Amino acid sequence: MERIFGRPIVTQEEMRARIRELGKQITADYTGKDLVLVGVLKGAYAFYADLARAIRVPLRVDFLMVTSYGSRTKTSGKVKMVTELTEEIKGKDVLLVEDIVDSGLTVQYLLKTLGKKKPRSIKVCTLLSKPERRTIDVTIDYEGFRIPNKYVVGYGLDYQQEYRNLPYLAVLDVAEDQE
Ligand code: IMP
Ligand code: MG
Repeated sequence: MERIFGRPIVTQEEMRARIRELGKQITADYTGKDLVLVGVLKGAYAFYADLARAIRVPLRVDFLMVTSYGSRTKTSGKVKMVTELTEEIKGKDVLLVEDIVDSGLTVQYLLKTLGKKKPRSIKVCTLLSKPERRTIDVTIDYEGFRIPNKYVVGYGLDYQQEYRNLPYLAVLDVAEDQE
């Protein structure tokens, strides 16, 4: 199956520049802290790798994987953590790294779940945000780009597990639109 994508919604150059800025900001904010960078798989993997290398303070890397039930371009409303962290986060400064905050459900769930492990602080960094889609009011501490209510793929983000390796972000035109 081949799909033709239109113009990138965020180009590789824009991405690089914005990630450099986020890295600087995070470096300044986490100097002297005890940073654990927690990536939310699978979607955040590309952003995570670039972001981590733009941060210039010592940090530990860790990952967790979540699934949200439901299919295709809609989030169903049930989030489940399918892998655990391996690093101790008690007393540490956790920065959650997400690909996209859509309804806000995943972030809300992760803040609650990881919060129980008593980190000293926990903040959220997301590459993308779709404010129009928010149903839960979550605080985003670092945000790469705000995008309109369109389904996007590439740079880690998928449609039915495909297109994650597209080196830029593109709008996927599927018949099944988001409401
Ligand atoms: P939430 O609705 O904020 O919980 O977001 C759930 C998840 O849906 C995100 O972490 C993404 O994995 C996925 N998602 C939301 N919007 C998009 C999109 O436009 N493209 C690809 N995945 C998306
Ligand atoms: Mg995700």
